[in-house]
Amino acid sequence: MEKVVSFSRQNKDRYVADLMEFLKIPSISSSSQHNGDTERCAHFVADLMRRSGVKRAEVFKTPGHPIVFGEWDGAPGRPTILVYGHYDVQPVDPLNLWESGPFEPTIRDGQLYARGSADDKGQIYIHFAAVEAHLKQHGTLPVNVKFLIEGEEEVGSEHLDKFVASHKELLKADVVLISDTAMFQRGLPSICYGLRGLIYYQIDLRGSGTDLHSGSFGGAVANPAFVLAEMLASTKVGGRVTIPGFYKDVKPLTARERKEFKRLPFSDKKYAKELGAPALSGEKGYSTLERTWARPTFEVNGILSGFTGEGAKTVIPAVAMAKVSMRLVPNQEPDKIAKLFEKHLRKICPKTVEMTITRMHGGEPWVAPIDHPAIQAAAKAFEKGFGKRPVYTREGGSIPVVATFADVLKILSVLMGIGVPDENAHAPNEKLDLGNFQGGILSSAHFLDLMGQGSR
Ligand code: BES
Ligand code: MN
Ligand code: MN
Repeated sequence: MEKVVSFSRQNKDRYVADLMEFLKIPSISSSSQHNGDTERCAHFVADLMRRSGVKRAEVFKTPGHPIVFGEWDGAPGRPTILVYGHYDVQPVDPLNLWESGPFEPTIRDGQLYARGSADDKGQIYIHFAAVEAHLKQHGTLPVNVKFLIEGEEEVGSEHLDKFVASHKELLKADVVLISDTAMFQRGLPSICYGLRGLIYYQIDLRGSGTDLHSGSFGGAVANPAFVLAEMLASTKVGGRVTIPGFYKDVKPLTARERKEFKRLPFSDKKYAKELGAPALSGEKGYSTLERTWARPTFEVNGILSGFTGEGAKTVIPAVAMAKVSMRLVPNQEPDKIAKLFEKHLRKICPKTVEMTITRMHGGEPWVAPIDHPAIQAAAKAFEKGFGKRPVYTREGGSIPVVATFADVLKILSVLMGIGVPDENAHAPNEKLDLGNFQGGILSSAHFLDLMGQGSR
């Protein structure tokens, strides 16, 4: 491993330069205006794969954004590691809050600022660099490697799910390696063994054919903004979701897990301060980590209705709209919860408005056994790469394909994320810590090495 480590030290600056080129491509998957950029980004990823030395790198078209697959299969008899990541990024608004352009990567204080730097382009890159270091120094890898890098993670991985189901042989592997999560704390490497699932909805209400004069008609018809607010407010009371049956399949936290969560260095006060929140809020009887990692929740992601311009306008809006979502935990099933939610909405929606419910993307929750040998190899690799033993965490976010890998391919995912909690993912001024970037490259290289040793 010494030669691999010294190669990665010598190439530090080039890695950053490569990543900056990657970050200049505005591969926003939710915006069709950027379809050309997203496609260009897929080809850029295939080039990165080729430059790392893998023999095969292919861009698969889908009805949505392309999927990039790569493979190096020169170690027969050794395990195969499937590296998954996503090259698509979230939208950048509000643009005026960015200190430097979202697609003009800029380094300040050892942090690389750009949309996608942490989520997930910088985190994908570490694995290309690790593979390259092994191949350049030894002409071979300790394991077989496959890459699966998609362009639709941020919009629910719809076409990837189909691709996985129809390419089981191509994707055959012993373990999936993913870097798309954050460390628990700066400088404290973390292995994530659980993700929440998600269902997402748009709700539209109509109360009249057109906006109405609030003097002439106020008091005679329902106001859809008001009705919507009442419906939403009654769906979560005191941190508890009121949808009948919502909690039925929730797997309770074990005593051991609660104890382990408590041992992690965490302060509610500091957390609230970092978030700029006057006070924390959530389900009674659970700690903040339990609430975000292992308890389901219902959130309003956005509301739109009526007059919001300058001054005052006396009007009753004709329509009101909300985007809402639920984060789910094992063993809640998205389709089952979706049915309960829709039934609940129809029950509480008054006859005075017309309602349209549209279901959007989502994903299943997931949890892994932490004593699995591949997870233990990841822990050792992190210790070598960062000089510090990792902690085990869960995440409140979702990576939809992880459950698909488990259910369809029957493969365990190992989540070795190198983001930081204040990385501003999905927000203005997203950043990647360049120390973590380098530590991540070393950790990935060690992981490949340790997985290779395991088979001897
Ligand atoms: N990298 C994140 C997943 C994540 C979020 C990990 C928070 C750790 C903490 C991923 O790119 C993401 O944002 N996922 C979406 C999925 C959704 C759009 C289907 C999410 O969680 O909102
Ligand atoms: Mn991500
Ligand atoms: Mn994301």
